[in-house]
Amino acid sequence: MIVVTGATGRLGRFVIEGLLKKVPVNQVAVVARNPDKAGDWAARGIQVRQADYGHPDTWDGVFSQGDTVLLISSSEVGQRRKQHRTVVDAAKRAGVKLLAYTSILHADTSRMLLAGEHLDTEKAIRASGLPFVLLRHSWYLENYTEAAKRTLAQGVLRGCAKDGRVAPATRQDYADAAVAVLTGTGHEDQVYELAGDTGFTLAEYTAELSRQSGRTVTYQDLPPADFAAALQQAGLPKGYADVLANSDEGIARGDLNDTSRTLSRLIGRPTKTLAEELSAMLKQA
Ligand SMILES: NC(=O)c1ccc[n+]([C@@H]2O[C@H](COP(=O)([O-])OP(=O)(O)OC[C@H]3O[C@@H](n4cnc5c(N)ncnc54)[C@H](OP(=O)(O)O)[C@@H]3O)[C@@H](O)[C@H]2O)c1
Repeated sequence: MIVVTGATGRLGRFVIEGLLKKVPVNQVAVVARNPDKAGDWAARGIQVRQADYGHPDTWDGVFSQGDTVLLISSSEVGQRRKQHRTVVDAAKRAGVKLLAYTSILHADTSRMLLAGEHLDTEKAIRASGLPFVLLRHSWYLENYTEAAKRTLAQGVLRGCAKDGRVAPATRQDYADAAVAVLTGTGHEDQVYELAGDTGFTLAEYTAELSRQSGRTVTYQDLPPADFAAALQQAGLPKGYADVLANSDEGIARGDLNDTSRTLSRLIGRPTKTLAEELSAMLKQA
């Protein structure tokens, strides 16, 4: 059985759709904290198992010996060390065949604040002794393209990434890599640095946005504290603003860039480009 956590989220939904194209429906199970949100999966014949990362007692019996598990990282930043540890412990108790985890690019060398929880989760997975796969993700391309219309309206993108390159990929591409790993062979104990084939600077991003929209959008680089303050002024909570500014500093250092093309090798095609995704986004009403 292939068991996927976080399957009610955006990445998880792509993973499940991809799995259903490759394995029989009775070989797939999803874990959801709120089974109502997985009602569409249940209607399609997928087993839904209820568990919450924040409640260790809910994980007893969720996994069985021989399962292949994908732990999609929790969205509750700050809680994730403990939450992920809960899932790793449950996987160990059950004796799963493979534990795959969606981590962050270069988790072991990245100095981004977000990397700490991922690296500690990776360590817990290694210490469990289970066969594992680390799917280390760069940014989602949607982080930029879903904000494109707002950026266009403002005419300026502010950040503190300097001229660092970021190499994001779409959730669909990351999900396809997960499906390749979960349904393939020979991935045990591999660490995959997953990123888009071609990175860009934020100035290059606004140049592409300008080119496609026919309007001028510029990139304004700010000192990190000023960028965090601007985000707070725009209504973001301080903690979130600080994490975003810190992540841009990571981009300036190259923490979210990777040129190995591991992702396109795993999925057997080039990754979606910024130009393609922006074009699709700008066509939407
Ligand atoms: N690389 C990037 O740029 C980037 C960007 C955003 C997020 N991420 C990371 O990638 C993960 C997947 O992304 P996504 O876009 O699919 O996020 P998402 O749409 O927010 O989905 C998060 C999933 O985690 C589940 N979840 C959250 N807290 C949980 C808990 N306490 N117990 C059980 N399940 C819980 C959610 O369940 P509910 O449906 O019940 O909420 C949902 O299924 C995120 O969780 C985050 O760690 C990465």
